Amino acid sequence: MEMKAPRGVRDILPDESWKWSYVINIAAKAMADYGFSEVHLPIFEHTELFSRGVGETTDIVEKEMYTFEDKGGRSITLRPEATAGMVRAALENNLCAQGSDAKLWCFGPMFRHERPQKGRYRQFYQVDCEHLGCAGAANDVEIIDLAAEIFRRLGLKNLEAVINSVGCPKCRPVYREALIKYFNNYKDKLCETCLDRLDRNPLRILDCKKPDCGAVADGAPDIYNSLCDECREHFEEVKRGLERLGIAYKINKRLVRGLDYYTKTAFEILSGDLGAQNAVCGGGRYDNLSDSIGGPHLPSVGFACGVDRIILVMEQQGLSFGERPKAKVYVAALDNSARGEAQILTHKLRSAGIAAQCDTENKSFKSQLKAAGNAKFACILGPDEIKNKVVTLKDMADGSQVSISDNELIDYIKDKLK
Ligand code: HAM
Repeated sequence: MEMKAPRGVRDILPDESWKWSYVINIAAKAMADYGFSEVHLPIFEHTELFSRGVGETTDIVEKEMYTFEDKGGRSITLRPEATAGMVRAALENNLCAQGSDAKLWCFGPMFRHERPQKGRYRQFYQVDCEHLGCAGAANDVEIIDLAAEIFRRLGLKNLEAVINSVGCPKCRPVYREALIKYFNNYKDKLCETCLDRLDRNPLRILDCKKPDCGAVADGAPDIYNSLCDECREHFEEVKRGLERLGIAYKINKRLVRGLDYYTKTAFEILSGDLGAQNAVCGGGRYDNLSDSIGGPHLPSVGFACGVDRIILVMEQQGLSFGERPKAKVYVAALDNSARGEAQILTHKLRSAGIAAQCDTENKSFKSQLKAAGNAKFACILGPDEIKNKVVTLKDMADGSQVSISDNELIDYIKDKLK
């Protein structure tokens, strides 16, 4: 039987992978410019991190996690997102000791057992960026600005930033009660999942994508009427800050996000070119995530961009991914006697930092030259060249040839490639 990859996962092959490097490098540069440092974190964590951190009544924890028991009988989960792990790592490594903050980012695969469709995979990739240990609204503005800056640098068009406030543990209970009261009048219209969540976490109903639930949710009480003074002022400050920076946004009172850890600011950046799975970035403030996993109080804000979706949109919009890396030089051996020398020269070029290839499969000179068609230059080596310590350098663009001595070759090529 021919083996196939499991449903919902994909191979990112050479035709695509260079585009991924481009996107990640642009994002990495932007995040460095804003003072964030890269970290590499584990792909699996104790299941409890997510059940306590992300929330028991979220789709992610209830239905979508890849959870298994390891050989030591511990419950392990492939990370469905990076924020909880980031906070865990910061606490464990004391990165926010004595009230200091930490600005961290990571890139890597996340795992959710969702129904696969365009832009939605079971293994997908995020650039995740977190500012841990910061309470003021100016930090929320900066994090939204950074997310927007990444998209500006990538050239994405047709985006919309959507923001909301989801309140805090002080004011949310009031809103919760208002929601329960309201939704109780529409029990016959809600789906089973929403009914199940009505008492446990009615905020989740606002997030339901089913049309009937959505229609009911549209008429739900407005969270702004329940926000405490602190949350209201925070939200106003975020809006003022975005306006100061000229970042356009819309307010969506139903934006509650699919994770329970958010407090105050929640936001998403949506693409008009993606269909149903239109969020290219999601984030917000999560002041109590650290407390919920047993750590000290650590107000924080962050976001994650979906790299799979960014690439989809960029391809759709015909945006540039820079130049696909390719060999600059192809070393061709005129006959068998020159093959050894050709490999030595290729090695020397590579050691000098020049991307070079040569044939290692005893191909004819003709097919070597054909392969050289992809490079900028061909270095041709035959018995005469070897005897005279020269190389015939052929410019593949115009076919012109020059003979260059061995010891000048590298400088000559470097100069030409500038
Ligand atoms: P999220 O909204 O669940 O947030 O995911 C962030 C982004 O990851 C989405 O906007 C989307 O672009 C991408 N994404 C999510 N699920 C999939 C999927 N199945 N297939 C392809 N792409 C997907 C979080 O994960 C939070 N941890 C973000 C955050 C960071 N909040 C604060 N800090």
